[in-house]
This record gives sequence, C-alpha cells and structure tokens, in this order.
Amino acid sequence: MKKYNVAVVPGDGTGPEVVNEGVKVLEAVGNSCGFELNLEYFDFGGERYKKTGETLPDSAVEEFKKFDAIYLGAIGHPEVKPGILEKGILLKMRFMLDQYINLRPVKLYPGVWTPLKDKGPEEVDFVVVRENTEGLYCGTGGFLKEGTADEVAIQTSVNTRKGVERCLRFAYEYTRRRNKDKTLNLCGKTNVLTYAFDLWERTFHEIGEQDYSDIKREYTHVDATCMWMVKNPEWFDVIVTDNMFGDIITDLGAMIQGGMGIAAGGNLNPDPGGVSMFEPIGGSAPKYTGKNIINPLAAICAAQMMLDILGEEKAAKAVEQAVMKVTADKLESLSAKKMGYSTSEVGDMVAEYAVSFS
Ligand code: IPM
Ligand code: MN
Repeated sequence: MKKYNVAVVPGDGTGPEVVNEGVKVLEAVGNSCGFELNLEYFDFGGERYKKTGETLPDSAVEEFKKFDAIYLGAIGHPEVKPGILEKGILLKMRFMLDQYINLRPVKLYPGVWTPLKDKGPEEVDFVVVRENTEGLYCGTGGFLKEGTADEVAIQTSVNTRKGVERCLRFAYEYTRRRNKDKTLNLCGKTNVLTYAFDLWERTFHEIGEQDYSDIKREYTHVDATCMWMVKNPEWFDVIVTDNMFGDIITDLGAMIQGGMGIAAGGNLNPDPGGVSMFEPIGGSAPKYTGKNIINPLAAICAAQMMLDILGEEKAAKAVEQAVMKVTADKLESLSAKKMGYSTSEVGDMVAEYAVSFS
C-alpha cells in the first residue's frame, strides 16, 4: 500500500480543531482509496514561541525535507507581535523549502453565498498562481537615519529571471493540465513598475511563444484584475502574478468564493523531491478557539489539494465532491457558529460522503 509521510503543524487558535477534521477526512479516504498516512505532529506556533522563544529552528526545516508534504492549520497569536511568527515560521518555511508557487483555487461551491449574487459555480472557477519566494517578500532594504525626522525606509522588490521563469512555466503547465479555457493571464503593473514587470512580461511572452503555443496569453494590470475578478470572474482561467499582488488578489478571491471558511492554498515546491505545504487561508481565529464552532472546510480543502498534488487524484476528487455535497445540501452558512453543525460534525459528514464517492 502506498504510504505518505506528512508533517502536521496544527499551530495556533482554531488551527488544531480544523486540522483534526482534515486528518479525519484524509484517513477516511485513505482507507477507501488504498493509501496510508504516517502523520507526525509538530508544535510550532505562538504558544511554543512564548514558552521557548523559538519560532522554527533550522533543524526542523531539515527534518521537514524528509516528508512528502506538510499540513498546516494556522499561525498567529494575539500576544505575539505581528511579524514574528509570520516571518519566523511561515515565510521561513516557504523560503527554506523553496516553495516558489502559491497555488490558490478560487471556486464557488454550490449553495455558498457570494457577494457576487448573480454569479454561480459556473462563473467563479479560476486559479491564482502566486510567485512565493521573491518580490517584496525578500526583506531586502533598510532604514537610513532611523527614528529621525529625515528617516528613509527602502524596501525593494527582487525579481530574478530564474524565479520569474520557473513560476511562469509552472503556470503554463498548470493551465494546460487544468484544460478549462487554456488561457493564462499575467497580472502586473507594467505601466508603473517598468522594470519588474517588464521582466515578467518579456519572459511570459518569450516562453509562451516557444513552448506553450497551445495556451492563450492575456495581460491585465493588478487594479483592473481586481475589478474584473468581481465584475466578470468568468473571464479568468489561470492568473499568474508576483508575490505581493498575489497576496492581495488571493484574499479578494477568497471573499468571492465564500470567504475564509472555504479558501485554501498550497505552497508548492514542484521540483523533484520538493516538499510542499498546504494550509487554510484564514487565520487562527482566537475568539472561536476550542468551541467546536469554526468551519473546518478550508482545512479540508487544503487536505484535498495535498491529495491532488501527491497524485491521489481519485481521493482528491472524492473529497471535493463531498465538500460540494455539504455546501449544497447541508450547511446553512460558512461562518463560524452559523453552520447549523459543529466543527466535528462537518468533518464527519465530509469524511462519510468522501468515502461513498471514492
Ligand atoms: C498569506 C498570508 C501571509 C503572506 C502572511 C501571514 C505573511 O497573508 O499566506 O497570504 O502575506 O504571504
Ligand atoms: Mn495573504
């Protein structure tokens, strides 16, 4: 039987509760689809940082490299200054494991309320490929005359040909495999960021012409992209963009697909031997912690993406169908407390349907 070693980082707040439901679903479909999961738990997060001052030690990153995937709940603690856990755990993992793609499906499931009232599951179904290890996230820059009236703060966006090209190639390949409209949209700001996005645009067309002539190429500025995502989401198939713009448009995407209760993402290292990490987009929701009222669907959708990327396509399909069945026929709302079911009941239902669909 195929066996996957998965590092589980439940993290802070409601992270552990939603990860429990994800694990429940994974184990259920593992049984019915013929694979086994070997889970190892790690306690990185706000609590551990408060006790030991440790975020994510280098030795843990080395250990993570031996796993097939990482499954993460949420990182964020109300008593820890913003930036410490984000940089020390999340960004460190992305950078050191070279998870250079952030993959974010924006898909409206049946029965889910969206602010785009007249759009349905047919119209809201696209994927954002966000570059995940460069751009403004590199931390290059500094202060000059810090704390004085003449202070200068500089933060530069780093875009390398290698980094841009591997992200674009992933996006082209993904568009081909997705096989929806075979259209890849580059989202940038070529009218203002005339260096960074010039490199993106040139590389986009160059490799598109050379190696992906079956894929249609489109370009939109990031501000316009936001407008179209709301007004005409059906225009998009796959959007590729840099790290900062990707951060912003994927939260917009999360909202139009029904919010933090359902939105999930993958931090992928698609290279041979690369270890990818999967997480719900929402935060640690401290006020709902331990109440069995948080929506676990986003964490379950993250587990579903993990199955798909690991190559368990049948199990991944079954979990997605199960999630759709639950959004269409069961849940009253995707919001915490208002689902009409508890966290663990939602996990039970998805697990049960997933088994029956597999
Ligand atoms: C995300 C998050 C992170 C990011 C934060 C927590 C550093 O917002 O995964 O999108 O900006 O990348
Ligand atoms: Mn974000």
